[in-house]
Amino acid sequence: MSTTTIERTNRFMVGNYARFAVAFDHGEGRYLFDENGKRYLDMFSGLGVSCLGHGHPRVSEAIATQSKKLLHTSNLYYHAPAARLAEMLCERSFADRVFFCNSGTESVEAAIKLARRAGGDRFEIVAAHGSFHGRTLGALAASGQPDLQEGFGPMPAGFMHVAYGDTEAAADAAGDHTAAIMVEPIIGEGGVLVPPAGYLRALREICDRTGALLIFDEVQTGMGRTGKFYAHEHEGITPDILCSAKGLAAGLPIGAMLATESAAAAFKPGTHGTTFGANPVACAAGIAVIESFDAEGVLENCRASGEHLADALRAIAAQRADIKDVRGRGLMVGMELTGPARPIVDRALEAGVILNATAGNVVRFLPPLTITTAEIDEGLKLLEEALP
Ligand SMILES: Cc1ncc(COP(=O)(O)O)c(C=O)c1O
Repeated sequence: MSTTTIERTNRFMVGNYARFAVAFDHGEGRYLFDENGKRYLDMFSGLGVSCLGHGHPRVSEAIATQSKKLLHTSNLYYHAPAARLAEMLCERSFADRVFFCNSGTESVEAAIKLARRAGGDRFEIVAAHGSFHGRTLGALAASGQPDLQEGFGPMPAGFMHVAYGDTEAAADAAGDHTAAIMVEPIIGEGGVLVPPAGYLRALREICDRTGALLIFDEVQTGMGRTGKFYAHEHEGITPDILCSAKGLAAGLPIGAMLATESAAAAFKPGTHGTTFGANPVACAAGIAVIESFDAEGVLENCRASGEHLADALRAIAAQRADIKDVRGRGLMVGMELTGPARPIVDRALEAGVILNATAGNVVRFLPPLTITTAEIDEGLKLLEEALP
């Protein structure tokens, strides 16, 4: 009896994901193709990862070349791709030093541990209600979504949550016990929530006043997603520690924690580590991503296409009572509905466009940063047809 990919997955993999009944076979540019040959416009990038779309020549070439040369060494030795990617990330940011890991969650864990170790007696992490920082116990304790923590208690101690975007609440919470304030510059999983202008700057000031470190979780907002290399650049301030992942290697697993010299100094040999961190192939892909950003005007395209997407969605919203809000920055856009988002996303998938439902009633758009305005128009036409 022949078995399909979907049947085999459902039989043999742990049932922790609510998957759509589609098995993808390959991708080209901004399109994915399923095992039956049906074509889909990708406006989600696999949770915001495939920032250069699918089969990007420079990234594929870098991966192929490095995979033939060297796959793994461990962190007991040096290799060129990690050294060069760390250098490129520092050249493009506030950071002096980089720690490589394998996911966004791991970059958050590293940030929490670094902040605590740098803080001495200070242990508390102030985070935001509605935030998402990952699924390991530390990152989960930092995440301001109690329903995600259900059944996994007790959570590690020393995390408190305040209202997102509320400067006074953050100021009241921070004191001489605070190791760090940690926020997403725009909340992603929690519904694409954009804080008031000046919020990140105010957090910087609170940290400077109280001696806490400022951590920006840019796992989702980083790597060009909002039209700047990192989203905090829009406010002209810098954090002490930054978490990055998702688009960093355009589809290979990698995470990075960036830090200032003084914060990074708290990690000494033996204090933190991971076997697979700084994988040479993932790092080679990361170098190719940044080279592509520079050579192909990716951030410029993100800004222009992002504006086009938001304007077009607002035009649709103006005609309809069931769309409450359109918000975001660059190519990180949320469309809040009066009802649940999942049925719309299901119908859009059926029509051939990949979107995401988050926070119950928000349709989230995280297309490849290379998407064209014509492709956006094509996707929105399919979406409009899918709306009830
Ligand atoms: C802001 C933020 N932090 C952390 C994570 C966790 O990253 P990962 O799923 O790569 O572990 C995510 C994932 O969506 C995220 O959006």
